[in-house]
Amino acid sequence: MPELEAILLVGGQGTRLRPLTLGTPKPLLPTAGVPFLAHQLARARSFGVRRVVFATSYRAEMFSEAFGDGSVFGLSLEYVVEETPLGTGGAIRNAAAALTCGPGAPVLVLNGDILSGHDVGEQVARHVARRAAVTLHLTEVDDPSRFGCVPTDDEGRVTAFLEKTPTPVTNRVNAGCYVFTRSVIDAIPPGEVVSVERETFPGLIESGALVLGYAEAAYWLDVGTPAAFVRGSRDLVLGRLASPALPGPPGDLLTLPGATVSDGAKVDGGSVVGAGAVVESGAQVSGSVLADGCVVRSGATVTDSVVGAGARISSGVVLRDAVIGDGAVVGPGNELLAGTRLWPGVVLPECAVRFSSDV
Ligand code: GDD
Ligand code: MG
Repeated sequence: MPELEAILLVGGQGTRLRPLTLGTPKPLLPTAGVPFLAHQLARARSFGVRRVVFATSYRAEMFSEAFGDGSVFGLSLEYVVEETPLGTGGAIRNAAAALTCGPGAPVLVLNGDILSGHDVGEQVARHVARRAAVTLHLTEVDDPSRFGCVPTDDEGRVTAFLEKTPTPVTNRVNAGCYVFTRSVIDAIPPGEVVSVERETFPGLIESGALVLGYAEAAYWLDVGTPAAFVRGSRDLVLGRLASPALPGPPGDLLTLPGATVSDGAKVDGGSVVGAGAVVESGAQVSGSVLADGCVVRSGATVTDSVVGAGARISSGVVLRDAVIGDGAVVGPGNELLAGTRLWPGVVLPECAVRFSSDV
């Protein structure tokens, strides 16, 4: 397999994941026991990538602190910072200054919030064989209006790129993994805010350049919302998407070093119990992410939720599809359901929030 360079787009603010992203960029959120990007980096390495340029903006310094020179992954990592966010296209153009490959080489470009099991090697091979300008991985979703809608012709040529259109013409969407021919990146105007989705791709299609779709129905998830983030972590722990970065064998539960799960506790469904976290006897945790140092007391039920670092979940609490910020305290008897988010450090008194009317 030829050596490949990649650009990782990681400059977004992750607003839909607040409060989790208030202090940590989305691509660094602990996911199945490691920073989210560790899964992407390990997979990229397995497809022949040897050098990765991070296109950073929001909390840029945290990326180099997390991954350093990349030798742990067998990768060489570079970090490029945008003083103000340049949009996806501007970010790719800006990061290209750190590439070493020639103008005709394929460059892999990845959105920093995607879990995908597709065959990147095959995507690159098709791109090279067809001498395309850009080759986009395409996947099918139920609601294409939240994504870039990408119709193609019979030969796989992309005929339009419709970003977040209320009237999608196909369920096939941009899956956020591109192969660019290097010279196509260099043609993006430097130092300007540019969106690949709204400007570069439509412009290339308009000009008659070959923009190719690579449709593959492998595991795929954008982890940009709390529900999707929890699902991604769960799927990695359960082994629904194999990741070389998973710190343990796939299974019902991942416990990190220093975690304590009492004998009488039930923890399953792909949950993670972070370092130093405690789950007391009689607690039930399913499909959830328990961050480092949090405590789930006896008799609490936590389902499909995120409990932030150092947070306290008291007896009798019910959490479902909830996000509890770092250090928050949920007093006894509260029920937080259906997308509730508690900001870091908030202390919820006993029985302050109930969903059911029969109390
Ligand atoms: N460096 C940098 N600078 N990165 C950015 C910037 C920027 O100004 N803006 C966004 N990014 C990064 C984000 O960090 C993320 O990794 C990626 O670009 C995509 O941004 P999102 O905010 O996650 O976009 P989206 O999910 O709404 O839509 C994108 O992804 C979909 C697939 O999940 C689009 O590419 C859609 O067309 C696509 O269907
Ligand atoms: Mg996204």
